[in-house]
Amino acid sequence: MVGARTMPARAVVLPRRLTERIPVFQRRLLTWYRRHQRKLPWRETRDPYKILVSEVMLQQTQVDRVIPKYREFLTRYPTVRHLAKSKVAELKKVWYPLGYNIRPLRLRNIAKQVVRRHEGRLPGSYDGLIAMDGIGRYTAGAVLSFAFGQDAPILDTNVARLLERFFGTAGRRTRSGPAGKPTGRRERVLWELARQVIPPGDAYTINQGMMDFGATICTARAPKCPTCVLRHACQTYPSLDAGATARASRRRRD
Ligand code: ADE
Repeated sequence: MVGARTMPARAVVLPRRLTERIPVFQRRLLTWYRRHQRKLPWRETRDPYKILVSEVMLQQTQVDRVIPKYREFLTRYPTVRHLAKSKVAELKKVWYPLGYNIRPLRLRNIAKQVVRRHEGRLPGSYDGLIAMDGIGRYTAGAVLSFAFGQDAPILDTNVARLLERFFGTAGRRTRSGPAGKPTGRRERVLWELARQVIPPGDAYTINQGMMDFGATICTARAPKCPTCVLRHACQTYPSLDAGATARASRRRRD
């Protein structure tokens, strides 16, 4: 997850050299996604609670490990009210294979707030979601775009890496935080790009598409540049591809 809890204080104006690349990014990514999208259980629902569960599970765990747990969790806690009433010890036991941490308690706390403040229905507005303890900007964007069909941006580490590489913004950063976690102006530029790459009315597809592309093609350590459909317009492609070629020839030598 990348991002602060609230909207950034100052909006950024993107330079033309970035905005003029947006149409080619959208076109190629959407074409790729139509052919290569992963079939995932949380893409078969628009239930905001189920989307929330999947997004919290996916925050620190790989897709393949989440799939069976997501199904099991929703069988045990099928609605926000079931989760709000859950016993902590049992909840932790159900969650345990995903890693023992505070995520299940955070999710339960969100469920309690939804029951208390919103009669058991997750709010369909940014302000309503972000006002809840445990929901950050990423999660709010995911729930709004995946469950409510709103044009809300998302930015996690996969999406940030893809946008940074394609638009070539990484090299111009003025400050950077810990690896993979953009801060300050860099983060504001990325959120603004994530907002502007949304084709009006279709945040769902571009957001899911960027996630799949970042997870399977534009990966952190071994991006598949030679076959990437974005490479001709990618601002980082020449240097990344040189790295991939060097890695391949080292492997051949060893
Ligand atoms: N990681 C976080 N959210 C995801 C989603 N909706 N699909 C695939 N991977 C994800």
